Amino acid sequence: MQSAFWMPFTANRQFRKAPRLLARAEGMHYWTAEGRQVLDGVAGLWCVNAGHCRPKIVEAVKRQVATMDFAPTFQMGHPIAFEFAERLARIAPQGFSRVFFTNSGSESVDTALKIALAYHRAKGEGQRFRLIGRERGYHGVNFGGTSVGGILANRKSFGPGVAGVDHIRHTHDPARNAFSRGQPAHGAEFADDLERLCALHDPSTIAAVIVEPVAGSAGVLVPPKGYLERLREICTRHGILLIFDEVITGFGRLGKAFGSQHFGVMPDVFTSAKGITNGTVPMGAVFVKDAIYDAFMQGPDGIELFHGYTYSGHPLACAAGIATLDTYEEEGLLTRAASLDRTWEDAAHALRDARHVIDIRNCGLVAGIELEPRPGAPGARGHEAFLKAFEAGVLIRATRDILALSPPLIIEKAQIARLFGCVREVLKAVE
Ligand SMILES: Cc1ncc(COP(=O)(O)O)c(C=O)c1O
Repeated sequence: MQSAFWMPFTANRQFRKAPRLLARAEGMHYWTAEGRQVLDGVAGLWCVNAGHCRPKIVEAVKRQVATMDFAPTFQMGHPIAFEFAERLARIAPQGFSRVFFTNSGSESVDTALKIALAYHRAKGEGQRFRLIGRERGYHGVNFGGTSVGGILANRKSFGPGVAGVDHIRHTHDPARNAFSRGQPAHGAEFADDLERLCALHDPSTIAAVIVEPVAGSAGVLVPPKGYLERLREICTRHGILLIFDEVITGFGRLGKAFGSQHFGVMPDVFTSAKGITNGTVPMGAVFVKDAIYDAFMQGPDGIELFHGYTYSGHPLACAAGIATLDTYEEEGLLTRAASLDRTWEDAAHALRDARHVIDIRNCGLVAGIELEPRPGAPGARGHEAFLKAFEAGVLIRATRDILALSPPLIIEKAQIARLFGCVREVLKAVE
């Protein structure tokens, strides 16, 4: 195996000894380099919401690359970036009609944090410099996202991070909530932890709080009933912006276009990426409430926000994104998770008596199956389950000992049965 590629979030030496190579994809499946079919239980990496190699998206990208490969968006523009932003604003919650383009979830997060800081400054409240994240949060890997993120392994090697960051506690409470179906009953009061930080730092120093509506990468943590509402209320009371990181929960994953619409709680700013182009071309977007955008437009007449990426609004990504939205809309994919919700939930919770399982959590077309860690080897059991499922023809994800499932939203009921059936069989074989 050649070794120039330093693989991300991968045990590189282990991988080289036993490579797992995907060579082709279509619909719900991958095919390995050896030609073996693999059912995609994780939408690639939570992103291929419409399934793989959808013809309309493929055609749109081909057409665009032959028409105009690249055009800058600094002091210049090109029509499809405006068209795509317009289309996105149409499916966003009311009052979010402004969209800032990035190239990834990590960039969306850092952009959202910077917009929050600059917004307060534009309003004459430059003393609001603190950014609050949450334990077990994942907000990508750039310095802002790493700092507000709350996963130990992602933080420990990278120094002190951005100054002025603090964290509220996570919402995981297995003693009261294990095996909850959908939103757990207990834990709305965990939102009050924000009051503790307000009392410690003074709320007038806090710019924003960022949370994932459903924490994905830390192992599928669904917000307790009333929790997001309470967080919203506290932020509003103190003039703190609430940012939802919807990189995973966006684009139909929970049964509505965005997680905020599913939970009925509106942030002030929200991030997206992944499903925005069905994973075809890297892209992200930050949505802001109109009042936030308007605050920038009332400043001196010139560049209002000194921020952007060479590839913000890249033509290929915009073409892919427009075709992706067409596909989602034509096939009803932004709401399909809602109609499969019960089947999915029943299939997930049927694993309650499977070997090693200590908790099951679900929301929309997302499920987390938590395994009891092997004594002295946390994460080993989850990784082994991932490897065995791949051998058995199903792609799942393991974050430590939590198996995460989030298939393309085109999944059929028989494939849901196959996915969870495979996990059950695999767990029988895992030590
Ligand atoms: C909630 C959340 N935010 C941010 C990111 C980072 O996205 P990217 O890997 O595209 O930078 C992810 C990736 O999984 C995510 O789940």
